[in-house]
Amino acid sequence: MENLLAGKAVVLGVTGSIAAFKTPHIVSRLASLGANVIVVMTENATRFIAPLTFETLSGNEVVVSMWPETKVGVAELEEAVSGDDRLKHVALAEAADLAIVAPATANIIGKMAGGIADDFLSTELMAMTCPVLVAPAMNVNMLESDAVAENLTTLKERGVRIIEPGEGRLASGAVGRGRLADPDAIVDAALAVLVPGDLAGKRVVVTAGPTEEPIDPVRHIGNPSTGKMGFAVAERALSRGAEVVLISGRTALEPPVGARFVRVGTTREMLDAVLAELPELHMLVMAAAPADYRPAEVAEHKIKKRADTLNIQLVRTEDILSEVASKKQLGQGVVGFAVETRDEVPNARKKLEEKSLDLIVVNNPMVEGAGFGTDTNIATVIGRTGLEETVGRVSKDELADVILTFAIRELGWGKTDG
Ligand code: CTP
Repeated sequence: MENLLAGKAVVLGVTGSIAAFKTPHIVSRLASLGANVIVVMTENATRFIAPLTFETLSGNEVVVSMWPETKVGVAELEEAVSGDDRLKHVALAEAADLAIVAPATANIIGKMAGGIADDFLSTELMAMTCPVLVAPAMNVNMLESDAVAENLTTLKERGVRIIEPGEGRLASGAVGRGRLADPDAIVDAALAVLVPGDLAGKRVVVTAGPTEEPIDPVRHIGNPSTGKMGFAVAERALSRGAEVVLISGRTALEPPVGARFVRVGTTREMLDAVLAELPELHMLVMAAAPADYRPAEVAEHKIKKRADTLNIQLVRTEDILSEVASKKQLGQGVVGFAVETRDEVPNARKKLEEKSLDLIVVNNPMVEGAGFGTDTNIATVIGRTGLEETVGRVSKDELADVILTFAIRELGWGKTDG
C-alpha cells in the first residue's frame, strides 16, 4: 500500500474556504502513499491556512502567485514534479497525473466553467490535460444557486469529477449540503483515478437487502436482512474500478456514490431488475435475501382482526438465481450466497451446482459474529473449481473484498486483462 502512488504527480488546488483546514490531511495521505504533491493556493486560501503547513507536509514549495516576485516559479515547480531534468521544459500542467481542487469555492468553480484564468490556479487548471477532481465547499444557498448548479453541470459534462459535498453544520451556522466531502473520500477518489482497479472495465450488478411480499395494503412478509453485505460489495467493486448497478430492497443504507441504484419491492421486481441488466453484466453478486414465498392472494383492503387464527396461503416466488442460470451467457460470472444452519459446506456445494454458480459464500447465522445485522461475518467461500476457504471474523467490507478477489480468480479475469 505504501508506495501505491510512487511516481505520480498530484497538483492540489486550495481555494479560500474555511474547509481548507481539512486539506492538510489530504496532502499528508497522498504524500505518505508516495505521491509528489504540489500545492497551489489562491491568495484567499492563504488567509485561512499558511502555505508553510503545506510546504512542510508535501516537501514542495507552495505556489500562490503568477508573478516572478514570488519565490517559486514554474521552472522550480517542473523540477519538483519531475524530480529529474528531462521534464524541465514540460509545463506543470503536463507533468501532473491528477489535479484536485479541495476545497473548491463557488468562485473557482465559476472560473473553471467560464474559462477565466486570472491567477496561477485558474490558469493551471485551464491548461490541465490530466483528470481533474473538484470537491466543492460552500454555503448551501450558494451551492444550490442556479449559477453554481449550472457551472457544476458544465464541469461534469466536460469530464471533471465532482466529489459531492456532504450535509451538516456549515460555517455560516446553517445546516445543509455544502460541507467539504470527507478528506479520506477525496483521497479514495484520487486513488481510483490513479491506480486502475482489477475490476476496471467490468460491469458488476449487486443485489442487496430483503424483498417484501404484500399481504394487504398495510402489511407484508419480509425478513431482517439489512443489506449491509450487498452494499459493501457494491462499494468495494466501485473502488476497484467496476461500473456498479446496485439493486436493493428496503434498507436504511445510503447507496455508494457512483453506483447506479435501483430500488425494488418484491422478489418479482428484483427478478425483473436483474433480468434487465443481465445482457450487459460481467458479474452478478446475489447478496439479497429475496422472500421465497408470497401470499397467494393480496387482500384489496386491510385484513381486520376477527378470528383467533388467520391462515394465509403462500406460494413460491421466482428463484432469481435459477432464472439467471438458464439465461446467462458464457463468461458471465455469478456469485450466490447461502444461509445454512447446518452442514454448511455440502449444502452450499449443492446450491452452487444446482444454480450454476461460479462462487458461493455460505454463512451460518447461528454462529456468533455472523449473519443478519452484524458488522462482522464469518463465511466459507466455495468456488466451482474446488476453491474452499473459510474467512474468519472480518468486517463486511473485508469480506466483500475477499469475495471479489476470489470471484476474479475463479473467472480467470486476473490472468489476461487484470
Ligand atoms: N435467492 C434467489 N432467489 C430467491 C431466493 C434466494 O436468487 N427467490 C438467492 C439469494 O440471493 C442467495 C441464494 O439464492 O444468493 C441462496 O439463498 P438461500 O436462501 O440460502 O437458499 P435457497 O436457494 O432459497 O434455498 P433454501 O432456502 O432451501 O436453503
